[in-house]
Amino acid sequence: MSIADRVRYPDFLSRIMTAEQAAELIPHGTNVGMSGFTGAGYPKALPQAIAARARAEHAAGKPYRINVWTGASTAAECDGVMAEAQAIGQRLPFNTDPTARKAVNAGEIDFIDMHLSHVAQHAWFGFLGPMHVAVVEVLGVTEDGRLIPSTAVGNNKTWLEIADKVILEVNTKPPAKMEGMHDIYYGTAIPPRRVPISLTHADNRIGEPYLRVDPAKVVAVVETHKGDRDNVFATPDENSNKIASYIIDFLVHEMKMGRLPREMLPIQSGVGNVANAVLAGLLTGPFENLLGFTEVLQDGMLDLLRAGKMTRASATAISLSGAAYKDFEDHIDFYRDRIILRPQEISNHPELVRRLGIIAMNSMIEADIYGNINSTHVMGTGMMNGIGGSGDFARNGYLSFFVTPSVAKDGKISCIVPMCSHVDHTEHDTQIIVTEQGLADLRGLSPKQRAQVIIDRCAHPDYRDRLQDYFDRARLKGAQHTPHILGEALSWHERFMETGDMRV
Ligand code: COA
Repeated sequence: MSIADRVRYPDFLSRIMTAEQAAELIPHGTNVGMSGFTGAGYPKALPQAIAARARAEHAAGKPYRINVWTGASTAAECDGVMAEAQAIGQRLPFNTDPTARKAVNAGEIDFIDMHLSHVAQHAWFGFLGPMHVAVVEVLGVTEDGRLIPSTAVGNNKTWLEIADKVILEVNTKPPAKMEGMHDIYYGTAIPPRRVPISLTHADNRIGEPYLRVDPAKVVAVVETHKGDRDNVFATPDENSNKIASYIIDFLVHEMKMGRLPREMLPIQSGVGNVANAVLAGLLTGPFENLLGFTEVLQDGMLDLLRAGKMTRASATAISLSGAAYKDFEDHIDFYRDRIILRPQEISNHPELVRRLGIIAMNSMIEADIYGNINSTHVMGTGMMNGIGGSGDFARNGYLSFFVTPSVAKDGKISCIVPMCSHVDHTEHDTQIIVTEQGLADLRGLSPKQRAQVIIDRCAHPDYRDRLQDYFDRARLKGAQHTPHILGEALSWHERFMETGDMRV
């Protein structure tokens, strides 16, 4: 299928150009809103052309950096190539690309780590400055100039609304039959004129299937024919399977106790191998007619849909392995009826997460004995990926799980520590912590009660006695509500930095 088949709005045909020509429309210092969410729906041609332009400008002794705002992470052929070419000045709100991560930690990119539900509204409020250009991947354009969204919606609605100019990348690779599976809600407004969002069930449709754009703003249309990043998942390992089984047993128990409705509540699942293992566990678990209300739909949720265990999944992006993507393409009619892709301001909206009673499951880097969570900073200083949507779901979910293996780096690091080296989610947002050692249910517990449960249930045996010793001494030392020996609390991390092993 060629671009002419996909662009049904005749006016845009004369604006078709190469990515290199379109990159000339993006000068140094431009604030660029790009599509892309968790390695899906990102522009595939423009970033390469921008990187080439940056290299040429730098070779001529001229500065060239742009500020890149997206939905969430993109891929090596977007963030990676631009970071490699030193073409990115500022980046928000989330990144998983290793080259860009290196540049962030080297101070070459100013990275702004944001809750994903905040991004669109902060852009409307003007907190981020003007958006000069939006570069948005779409699957096509309708006869009347509306845009068929791609595999990720992310912040595209907002970028198209606020950008001065728009460059469309029309990707002819994803199936044209995806048309109709999106639900773009245009009812959001700025305070004090906000109204409730009328979504009362995870599978409601409240919007329209297309993105709107003012045709006068479209300055270029570029063709691509490329698939998204291959999000390969490892086969769940023993630790992931244990974590998954604790969570499923816990949910069964909660239902038995009448604290979880019999029809189950919609599920949000973070990205990564552990999250995928939990979804795999649900496949053989006792729950039927599940609903997904999440930001990213990964392989595990597709499996649940195919098996009929999940009836419908709402997300903002489809982020799959190559094999799962093939299945999605081959059975597009089946999945189109069961998947709803929405803007991330809706998929992650705190109002909706709370109303629908979402079960939130997110991975973390470390937890401290009182239940504070570090999702982002290795050893308190090095940025990993960002907070992503974890905060949107964790604080507002009906149940909120944080999961991690109990140790990292071959046991040299304990993921349960006396005090988090960086806090993304406070003790108030954490209900249940799970490692391969066990599950700590923190609901209704005071800080000291929480500490004992976390040490007993979640710490690795190599570290349990040391954590207990710390906690006991902290309690003796003029114990207060949350006992700490402040000078010692972070020495675990310092020990690792000095010796390469927390156990030494
Ligand atoms: N200290 C130092 N390094 C640690 C660590 C710790 N306590 N815990 C994990 N790591 C390292 C791992 O060793 C690994 O390093 P490597 O890449 O060099 O191998 C890396 O962090 C990733 O850990 P991994 O165990 O493979 O977990 P993951 O892929 O499931 O990612 C997070 C875990 C926390 C990094 C990831 O889930 C994340 O970015 N979360 C924040 C965003 C979020 O929650 N989004 C949810 C909504 S989608």
